[in-house]
Amino acid sequence: MVCLGNICRSPLAEGILRHKVEEEGLNWMVDSAGTANYHVGEFPHRLSQKVAKLHGINISQHKGRQFVKEDFERFDFIYVMDEENYADVKTIAKNYFNEKKVDLILNASFPNQNKNVPDPWYGTEEGYHIVYNMLNEACKAIIKRKW
Ligand code: 4NP
Repeated sequence: MVCLGNICRSPLAEGILRHKVEEEGLNWMVDSAGTANYHVGEFPHRLSQKVAKLHGINISQHKGRQFVKEDFERFDFIYVMDEENYADVKTIAKNYFNEKKVDLILNASFPNQNKNVPDPWYGTEEGYHIVYNMLNEACKAIIKRKW
């Protein structure tokens, strides 16, 4: 799960997908990262933590890290939150980039629509609830199709 700062959207996406993976008893490794380095080592935004907790998901232990090109070797699939993340992942990955492994996460729930998960960083708490619901639907679809 990849976003810009790895403190708002992608830690939430990671927590939601891991929760479903555990419920389904799947053996998947789930992680998240940011394309920028602004928040490396920081815990998730308090509102991402709050919204996750409301749904019984604890993301308080996650620490921000920056996406690295080797993530293309470590992971089978890379879900990005928006088109800017997609472009940045491509730039960071250089010759490690593999188009088959990357997609906008909302294409799981809205196939071929190329929708972006809005960045809640600049808004109010409501934005975090909206993002949670979008990511929850996308993760349901990811679990269902098993990739
Ligand atoms: P995220 O949100 O990409 O969902 O983690 C952001 C977090 C921090 C910043 C931007 C977006 N920032 O500019 O510091």
